[in-house]
Amino acid sequence: MTAKNPSQPNGAVIHMDGIRKVYDTGKVKVEALRGVDLEVQDGEFVAIIGPSGSGKSTLMNLIGCLDTPTGGTYRLSGELVAGLRKEQLAAIRNRRVGFVFQNFNLLPQITSYENVEMPLLFGGISRRKRRQRVEELLDRVGLGERMHHKPTELSGGQMQRVAVARALAMNPDILLADEPTGNLDSSSGGDIMELFQELWEGGRTMLVITHDAALARRAPRQVEIRDGLVVRDNTNGSTDLMSDSIVDRPID
Ligand SMILES: Nc1ncnc2c1ncn2[C@@H]1O[C@H](COP(=O)(O)OP(=O)(O)O)[C@@H](O)[C@H]1O
Ligand SMILES: [Mg+2]
Repeated sequence: MTAKNPSQPNGAVIHMDGIRKVYDTGKVKVEALRGVDLEVQDGEFVAIIGPSGSGKSTLMNLIGCLDTPTGGTYRLSGELVAGLRKEQLAAIRNRRVGFVFQNFNLLPQITSYENVEMPLLFGGISRRKRRQRVEELLDRVGLGERMHHKPTELSGGQMQRVAVARALAMNPDILLADEPTGNLDSSSGGDIMELFQELWEGGRTMLVITHDAALARRAPRQVEIRDGLVVRDNTNGSTDLMSDSIVDRPID
């Protein structure tokens, strides 16, 4: 495995040290993350599992620079995220991270093509290159034929594949998916997970939040979050542990 960023000595795409997140809503303070250490290497495929309210989405938002931690240090591809201004964070998000959400988050008024083109427009990519990239990506997710359909004319599984194509548009270092199969039937959910596996085999770093045990098992590493802490981290090979204790117990 080769590191994309040579300035990061160990090739970690994600390096989190003692990450805390407190939501302060005025009346109450919620400690969503209470000291998370997490390192993800270039080219890994990690499933994040854990019960509802355990802090998975909070973690995902921090990893993807949608929000900033209250404590601890976070490096994304070697770059220290703390202290970056809003515009810098936005630039990192657009270039380094691709997001896939449970509810697809596609713009309903525009076509699949235009949805996938959106990050390329923001990224200042030329019209010719945009066209080439969008067509290549929609073909990649099996929707070349549905390029000019709007989201309302697509099935849930197809919408999610458009969302995956959009997430890949800027060729991000890492693809983050928060319950990407949560609104899909099990067959289209399986298709999405298969697509993730193929992307991973193609060298992409993948982080997928899921509470579906069978889907989590397809990733070689599972990180389990409970009450704002990593309580278990299974790397490659510990399949025995995985099959009986982690993913088979009800977690959501
Ligand atoms: N924007 C927010 N403001 C206040 N509390 C929040 C906010 N987002 C999440 N929380 C709280 O933080 C905890 C973790 O939430 P979350 O990260 O969404 O968990 P999960 O994705 O595992 O269900 C929960 O107690 C939740 O209610
Ligand atoms: Mg969540």
